[in-house]
This record gives sequence, C-alpha cells and structure tokens, in this order.
Amino acid sequence: MNLKIFLLCFQMFNMTLSDKIVTFPGTVTATNYSIQLSEISFEKCAENCLSNIDCVAFLVTENCSIYTFEQLISVQNIVSSNQIVGIKINGSDSETCPSSFSSLDLSGSVRSLSYNFITASSPGLFNFNRSSCSNGWKLFRRVRGYYCIKIFFPKSDSDVFNSSYCKQYSAYLTGFDNQNEIDYIYSAMQTKYGTTDNKYLAIDGIRKPSCYTSTKIKCGEFEWTNNYSSTPMFFEWDSGEPSGVEYWGTQENCLSVQFKGTSKKYANDIGCESDLINGHVCGMPIGDWDN
Ligand SMILES: *[C@@H]1O[C@H](CO)[C@@H](O)[C@H](O)[C@H]1NC(C)=O
Ligand SMILES: *[C@@H]1O[C@H](CO)[C@@H](O)[C@H](O)[C@H]1NC(C)=O
Ligand SMILES: *[C@@H]1O[C@H](CO)[C@@H](O)[C@H](O)[C@H]1NC(C)=O
Ligand SMILES: *[C@@H]1O[C@H](CO)[C@@H](O)[C@H](O)[C@H]1NC(C)=O
Ligand SMILES: *[C@@H]1O[C@H](CO)[C@@H](O)[C@H](O)[C@H]1NC(C)=O
Ligand SMILES: *[C@@H]1O[C@H](CO)[C@@H](O)[C@H](O)[C@H]1NC(C)=O
Repeated sequence: MNLKIFLLCFQMFNMTLSDKIVTFPGTVTATNYSIQLSEISFEKCAENCLSNIDCVAFLVTENCSIYTFEQLISVQNIVSSNQIVGIKINGSDSETCPSSFSSLDLSGSVRSLSYNFITASSPGLFNFNRSSCSNGWKLFRRVRGYYCIKIFFPKSDSDVFNSSYCKQYSAYLTGFDNQNEIDYIYSAMQTKYGTTDNKYLAIDGIRKPSCYTSTKIKCGEFEWTNNYSSTPMFFEWDSGEPSGVEYWGTQENCLSVQFKGTSKKYANDIGCESDLINGHVCGMPIGDWDN
C-alpha cells in the first residue's frame, strides 16, 4: 500500500545539536502528556517541543499536548485526520523536507538516551522504541533527568539502610520525585501484600542532623542523601507521623514507605536498624542529568 503523507519539517539550531520536527496529520498514543497548552498556534506548539529537551512528540488539536520520552507509545499517520502530530528526530544538513517517511531517519536522542520510530503492522503506524532501564527496572522522568526504580522484596540480611544493598546494582536507596513513583511503589506493595497491612520498604532520606541529638528528637524534617531526588520533599505521612521514636524507644531517623492496605498515607519514619523493614527500593539515574 502506498501511503499518502504530508510532511513538514522545522529545524532549530542551538549550540551543540540540531533537532528536526516532522509533522503530519494523525494521532498519538501515550501514557499521558506532560504539558497541555490551550489554544496556541501550531508553530508555537512546535517551538515549545523544540525548546523542551524532554519532548519527543506533540499533538495539535484545539490544544497543544507535549509528550516526553517516557510517555510516548506510538504515532500514526492518518491522512484524513484534522489533528497534527509532530515528532522530534535528529536534524540533518538538508533543509528540505523529504516527501515520504521512507527517506527519513526516524531516530533521535534526549539526554543521551536514544530512540527511533519503527514501522508497525497497521498502515502509517510507528511504534516509539527507546533505550530504557535494565529488565525489571521502571523508567521515570525526574525533574533533572531520567531514573530507574526497582523494588526488592524481601530485605537482605544486612543493615537495610546501608547503601551496600543497592550498590551491588550500581544503584542507591531511592528517594522520590513525583506521585507516579509513589503510586508505582504502592501498587507493587498492594500486589505483593494484598490486604496485609503494616509492611515497610526502606527508601532514602535521613532526619536532618539539626533535628535530633543522641537523646532527643527535636523535629520531623528529613533530607535526601543525594541530589537525584528533587526538593522540596513531599510526603503523605501516616497519622501521627513522623513520630521520631519507635515504641521500644529507638530513634527513627530513616524513612520508609508504609503499606496500609487501602489508606494511601504512605510515609513513616523508622529506625535505621529496624527489624520491621520488608524490602528496599533502589534507584539509579540514566542518561544525562541537569546540574
Ligand atoms: C497527566 O499529566 C498532567 C500534567 O503532568 C497531570 O496533571 C495529570 O494528572 C496526568 N494525568 C494522569 C491520568 O496521570
Ligand atoms: C483543551 O483544553 C481545554 C482546557 O484545558 C480542555 O477543556 C479541552 O478538553 C481540551 N481539548 C482537547 C481536545 O483536549
Ligand atoms: C541520531 O540519533 C541517534 C540515536 O538514535 C544518536 O545516537 C545520534 O548521535 C544522532 N545523530 C545526530 C547527528 O544527532
Ligand atoms: C530499539 O531501540 C534500541 C535503543 O535505542 C536499539 O538498540 C534497538 O536496535 C531498537 N530496535 C529496533 C527494532 O529498532
Ligand atoms: C555497610 O555494609 C558494609 C558491608 O557489609 C560494612 O562494611 C559497612 O560498615 C556498613 N556501613 C554502615 C554505615 O553500616
Ligand atoms: C546537592 O547539590 C548541591 C549543589 O550542587 C551540593 O551543595 C550538595 O552537597 C549536594 N547534596 C548532596 C546530598 O549530594
């Protein structure tokens, strides 16, 4: 079948790379959009994608939806569509736009993570294929870069809050950056524990040194131990938390995600040597990160 397409290319040069936007009538499949701009022009939408380093595609309806690397699933060229799809691919020296997809190199990269669009079984359909986390690790976009998370049940025998457990995977005990990550961790606990509540996973975060002495908890403020999680921290503390002290008197200067069945109040401070911990949440950055 000889598909009719309508390609339009935009290019914008910055210091080190040139990205090209290719547009055509059609539709986008994605997990969500990252930004939706109302009633802006097609050109403004394309410019927005070009200047957003995480944008890999956009869709112009009455609004402009911007899709990032971890969100895009596929794009489809539908000649009769009144929506316009734009995809961001490698720029080339040529300033003319080819007349068909077959003469385009449909690959690109964001933050040094590569991707390409692969022809799929339906006419005009291209699946978004990207480099990603290792098997079993889940990709998330963080404020400053891309990040992989994996949950390990049960805990290892060694000190759970010791960085050595995640280190075997070149990872860290993870903090978090956004609600999607918390939802992911929480739903994995739901799958694992069903209706059994009061299960705890160790995450990054320590009570601020100014918040305690060896004998006294003075405040409930925590900080990440690395810069991969953005601040400010946001937590939905379980009621009465952070309490600071375990019921047998130990200080609770580390952090956990607490599974409470149906309640999503997930955060609880916990002793750094606590026996209550049921697993670890490890994380690692991939690709290039903003400073
Ligand atoms: C989709 O993304 C927008 C903007 O990031 C967010 O406000 C919205 O809650 C997301 N929707 C879903 C279903 O995740
Ligand atoms: C466009 O944006 C407006 C305001 O955010 C929203 O109400 C409307 O549903 C959007 N239209 C489409 C086609 O997504
Ligand atoms: C094109 O994209 C690939 C990733 O698919 C990347 O490795 C390569 O460096 C890019 N080439 C140019 C000229 O930007
Ligand atoms: C999918 O993308 C990965 C990483 O960019 C690449 O190594 C692989 O060859 C691609 N697969 C296909 C079928 O293009
Ligand atoms: C972490 O574990 C390693 C290896 O088991 C050990 O050498 C180190 O002392 C531990 N560190 C802390 C802070 O517990
Ligand atoms: C985070 O980055 C800031 C500024 O670069 C630095 O001062 C701070 O020590 C870093 N924090 C951690 C935990 O690495």
